[in-house]
Amino acid sequence: METRLCTVDPACPDAGVMREAGEILKNGGLVAFPTETVYGLGGDALNSEASRLIYAAKGRPSDNPLIVHIADWEALAPIVQEVPAGARRLAEAWWPGPLTMIFKKSDRVPYETSGGLETVAVRMPDHPVALALIRAAGGYIAAPSANTSGRPSPTTAGHVAEDLSGRIDMILDGGSVRIGLESTIVDFTEEVPVILRPGFINEEMLKTVLGDVKMDPGLQSEDPAVRPKAPGMRYRHYAPKAELSIVEGTPESVVKYIDERVREAERAGKKAAVMASAETAGAYSAGHVHVMGSLNSDEEIANRLYGVLRSFDEDGTDVIFSEAFDSPRMGQAIMNRLLKAAGHRVISV
Ligand code: TXA
Ligand code: MG
Repeated sequence: METRLCTVDPACPDAGVMREAGEILKNGGLVAFPTETVYGLGGDALNSEASRLIYAAKGRPSDNPLIVHIADWEALAPIVQEVPAGARRLAEAWWPGPLTMIFKKSDRVPYETSGGLETVAVRMPDHPVALALIRAAGGYIAAPSANTSGRPSPTTAGHVAEDLSGRIDMILDGGSVRIGLESTIVDFTEEVPVILRPGFINEEMLKTVLGDVKMDPGLQSEDPAVRPKAPGMRYRHYAPKAELSIVEGTPESVVKYIDERVREAERAGKKAAVMASAETAGAYSAGHVHVMGSLNSDEEIANRLYGVLRSFDEDGTDVIFSEAFDSPRMGQAIMNRLLKAAGHRVISV
């Protein structure tokens, strides 16, 4: 299959292109599109055959449910059984935006889309291209991140093409995304709302609106019996081919340790890379140092993370050391992804 690449103005996409893309989705095809978080791989959410095609294109296990994207509040009621008051308040505060909520699903949502579950994940993305596409497609787009299963989520159309070219009908190129990490997921099917995936909207922001909210214990547990509730959070993810270790400690001890290990690797003829904050990057004297951003403006670190992780596979890096980015604003979301990429390999110095 030939994949068409169409450049669109992210602020004001061409109506003709959007109509065409909408037709592809209505006919059961697949279109990748930008959102404010990461690029999504869209198919008609109410068409079970389209959902099957999404799993096949990504090489994704079919028990890992898809997020249904809507463009209007009125689109929610028909696909869920009820909307709890807390979810309504969160939607008022954050939709459109980087927030996904889990509800009990209605019969309109096929099990192929919900990964066999009785619940459905719904999000209203904050991006003109995404909103226009959803409306052009009839109101409901199922869209996982537009990467091959296991790879970092795409933050540019180029990343999507790397993974999915030849496997989908169209890619809408609306430039780089704004946030760079996937949406926060909050589950409303339990007594107290549960955060299944941390993101741009952090725990504190959710508490301000909801009062009570808890973090899925499966996200932090070292006990393999306590698994994350979101199926997608259980899989290996984001990992570059090179061995990645996270080094934590005081800034001085971290720099000293990484510098030594990098020199050692280089002496052995290996290509070594470092992921560092803007505050410490200048202190390294060896290796290819990637400046991820300042700990005081951690949104920059979040935005760069996936692009940098992808670059290691291309430039033949053999070994990677990363600082820990436990920043106050998005630290939880960043470290959740980084730990997965590192296979939880953490060195304390
Ligand atoms: O920012 C985002 O959310 C992006 C953009 C494209 O919107 N989408 C995204 O989709 O990250 P995906 O499929 O890569 O991640 C969806 C996550 C998976 O971990 C999946 O297991 C979980 O949401 N999920 C979906 N439906 C669920 C459900 N009913 N119950 C629990 N977890 C669910
Ligand atoms: Mg994904």
